[in-house]
Amino acid sequence: MAKILITSGPTRQYLDPVRYLTNSSSGKMGVALCEAALDLGHEVIVVTGPVGVDYPCAARRIDVVTTSEMLRASREMFADCDGLIGAAAPCDYRPVRVADQKIAKTGAPLMLELWETEDIVATLGAEKRDDQWTVGFALETEDPRFRAITKLERKSCDLIVLNGPEAMNSDTNSVEILGPGGELFGSSQGTKPTVAQAILDVIQSHLIASFHKNDKL
Ligand code: C5P
Repeated sequence: MAKILITSGPTRQYLDPVRYLTNSSSGKMGVALCEAALDLGHEVIVVTGPVGVDYPCAARRIDVVTTSEMLRASREMFADCDGLIGAAAPCDYRPVRVADQKIAKTGAPLMLELWETEDIVATLGAEKRDDQWTVGFALETEDPRFRAITKLERKSCDLIVLNGPEAMNSDTNSVEILGPGGELFGSSQGTKPTVAQAILDVIQSHLIASFHKNDKL
């Protein structure tokens, strides 16, 4: 049995008390991954942004709003986990200035200055111990396999799940699961629960089984 951290859903970066930047993400893939991991007998912690979906009760749920909150909670939880599945769509930008009061309309263009936010999968990938693994997702529209492998390397992932933009807010998904050398370890199309089971099967045989075997050597 492994202890798995799953990030899920979007994050929000507020411009003022009522307006925010976010990503289009339902959290449905995160729910399906939690269920698939629990079905295999693993312990699951889910760090989630604001979503309208319910996670299984057996998963420990930690709610966050911003990307830096997601990073802080994930980092704290990951210390005691075997692996991370980064299924969240964290907001990649945050405003340099956040207004205390609602920004009034003036009729003139509003210029937003944005900082990049921290990358959770990349941060935990860089910090992980030898006995920990990380799995990222890549949503690519152009040259997908090449870009996914580049992302896997940049974020120090052990596997990357490549999906297309049609996955966003949908009940179905179509994925390829790629290893560090670009090896195709699996692919799956169908409902998100079906796809999540296929992803967990690959994680089980390529990461959990071998990482635990190494422990015993
Ligand atoms: O770079 P891109 O957003 O395409 O990478 C997607 C992968 O990186 C997903 O696994 C996503 O959860 C993760 N990610 C993250 N923190 C961010 C942006 C993306 O963990 N700020």
